[in-house]
Amino acid sequence: MADLIVTIDGPAGSGKSTMAKRLAERLGATFLDTGAMYRGITLAAVQDGADLTDEEQLVRVVQGHRFDFEAASGRMLVRIDGDDVTERIRDPDLTAKVRHVAVAPRVREQLVAMQRAFAARHGRIVTEGRDQGTVVFPDAHLKFFLTADAAERARRRADELRAKGAEVDLEEIRQAIEARDRSDENRAVGPLKPAQNAVMIDSTGRSIEESVERICRLAEERIGAAVPCPPQPPQSEAPAARKDKPHPPAGATRSPAAWYWLARVVCQFFCILFFRYRSYGRENIPRTGSFILASNHQSFLDPVFCGVAVKRRLTYVARDTLFRNRFFGRLITSVNAIPIGRDKADIAAMRMIIERLREGAGVCLYPEGTRTHDGRVIAVKPGFGLLCRRSKATVVPVLIDGAFESWSRYKRFFTPGAILVQFGKPLAPEQIAAMSNEQLADTLTRTLRRMQREVRLKQGKQPYDYKK
Ligand code: DC
Repeated sequence: MADLIVTIDGPAGSGKSTMAKRLAERLGATFLDTGAMYRGITLAAVQDGADLTDEEQLVRVVQGHRFDFEAASGRMLVRIDGDDVTERIRDPDLTAKVRHVAVAPRVREQLVAMQRAFAARHGRIVTEGRDQGTVVFPDAHLKFFLTADAAERARRRADELRAKGAEVDLEEIRQAIEARDRSDENRAVGPLKPAQNAVMIDSTGRSIEESVERICRLAEERIGAAVPCPPQPPQSEAPAARKDKPHPPAGATRSPAAWYWLARVVCQFFCILFFRYRSYGRENIPRTGSFILASNHQSFLDPVFCGVAVKRRLTYVARDTLFRNRFFGRLITSVNAIPIGRDKADIAAMRMIIERLREGAGVCLYPEGTRTHDGRVIAVKPGFGLLCRRSKATVVPVLIDGAFESWSRYKRFFTPGAILVQFGKPLAPEQIAAMSNEQLADTLTRTLRRMQREVRLKQGKQPYDYKK
């Protein structure tokens, strides 16, 4: 397999081509526009006078010409038998015909082989199309699925055409886009659909620059040091950035990966030195895709006890009052903490958490809502179910033991002790969808209490009594 494969799939006009080009530039990878391949074959077939609905004839077209696809100065050069057709394949009449070629399974087979050969030749690629994450590169290092609503995609396309001096009918463009969506989504082979482990990015209402930045940060987060993420170009080189939304609220930015990992190593030393730290059941933490660590809450140090066991960068949630101290606020922000108001339903924080989860992140949460008063697990709040349902994330129950003894809410400072963290069997989004919020809260409460009993018995400690 190539050194790095990032796939970006999505419907026509979702901005994936621009994103793939920009991301490739930033990752030092080669950009592959697979739509240009389908367009090239279609043009050759039209030039040959082939019947576009006859698969046999289309296969002969593919085999009868030399096709060159080459990434050059930010676009895909396409040549048929040495003839440069890069501009001609963008013709609207030709665009309408590509769907015939795209539904032919044997043509797709040949193009899939060409795309894999391209990846092997270039080593590091960012490829965009419809089936890149599902069919062509199922083992890609990172997969994105881009969406944007049809009306917005039509507007973007109309703007592009107007910029070239063409007269446009917005409604006609929207209808053409919707027809292509239907054809892309409904074909039997290589249909347009998100790969199971794809990160979903909705670019509706966002500038391309903002989405590129988001994708790049995610790439850095997921693939770590393998993908250096260079700084953004200065404003003058990136006019679109000025159209971006206002700066996100405190805590919305993410820490540089290196800083997060450094902080984690320091915390690991701290945990071993003062708490004889042990963790079990880490195989229950998903390696890819979004998840929520639903942990019991015994002390201020619980996020540290969860984070040091997890090899993926987590997002944490902390009481907004903790951000008031400038130094401490900056410190926790720098390791991915989001502020949340505790006395009211903090809709903005909820949105941010759901957004992170939809991007495929892991988030550490304390669904009891507050630290325990006596070491026992408090009943989980039913509202937690709402967040799980909206984000469609896997939920991993986490039981922390020993933190109450070391730093309960009644102690000013912590005292050294023994901390044990147990990760339980995950609850899949489908299981969660089948439960009401109350059922989920009840299941989690009982699971955490059972885990606590087992963990304490294992250490020869007295289990808590829940009958009182
Ligand atoms: O991305 P684009 O609009 O240039 O793609 C042109 C056509 O090619 C589009 O109608 C769908 C098809 N296509 C495909 O079926 N599979 C791909 N991987 C890429 C494009």
